[in-house]
Amino acid sequence: MTPLAAVAFLLLLLLRLPEAPTTAAGDPTPTPWPPQFHAKLVMDYHGNMSVSDLWYDWPGGRNLHVIRYQLAADAPYYDNEWNNGTSFFYTPARRACRSAAVGVGILRPDWLQPGAVYLGRRDAGGFDCHVWAKADFITYYEDVDTKRPVKWVFYTGRIAYVMSFEVGAVLEDAAWQAPEYCFNKDSEMAETANGHDGSFIPRSVL
Ligand SMILES: *[C@@H]1O[C@H](CO)[C@@H](O)[C@H](O)[C@H]1NC(C)=O
Ligand SMILES: *[C@@H]1O[C@H](CO)[C@@H](O)[C@H](O)[C@H]1NC(C)=O
Repeated sequence: MTPLAAVAFLLLLLLRLPEAPTTAAGDPTPTPWPPQFHAKLVMDYHGNMSVSDLWYDWPGGRNLHVIRYQLAADAPYYDNEWNNGTSFFYTPARRACRSAAVGVGILRPDWLQPGAVYLGRRDAGGFDCHVWAKADFITYYEDVDTKRPVKWVFYTGRIAYVMSFEVGAVLEDAAWQAPEYCFNKDSEMAETANGHDGSFIPRSVL
């Protein structure tokens, strides 16, 4: 390499450095989820609105998302995920159930951290937040002071606003039981290849 080429090469390297999307030492890291919590969410999917309860229970190996779509006569809709890779999606008002073999467990409390890229501090509805992106899949807003999640923006365009976050709240066992019509002989169990199963947070990407 001629000296000029070497200088040009170095310059190119230097110019490229600031855009490298790596986590720098000293960047804040996302706070792991508590092992158990209950969150109330308001969700907006391109104008399709819903309110939901998210019950996360890592020691219990289960995760339940109870969704009420705006003015839906058949609400609520349940997304019940177990750590052995089985998910149940059911609507009690219609006794309708679909199950899926996802093949992976529920989200680990530290699911966000590996590969999360720090984007800096931003305002989210009046909350001063640290913001991370993960795998072109989610942008995650965490309150700087309380370290609670504030907002999740999914690549699909779904936005979840965290309205309350109760650390340590646990739902009673009976409420986790999938209804009996999920276990009918004729109810099919769909095998989902890449975890594209309709879960709130698709497990495969994590
Ligand atoms: C919103 O989306 C859900 C899930 O796809 C659907 O069941 C519901 O009917 C939609 N609501 C409206 C108002 O379109
Ligand atoms: C997963 O666990 C539940 C509850 O223990 C059980 O009913 C279900 O059959 C299990 N699924 C698989 C694929 O092992």
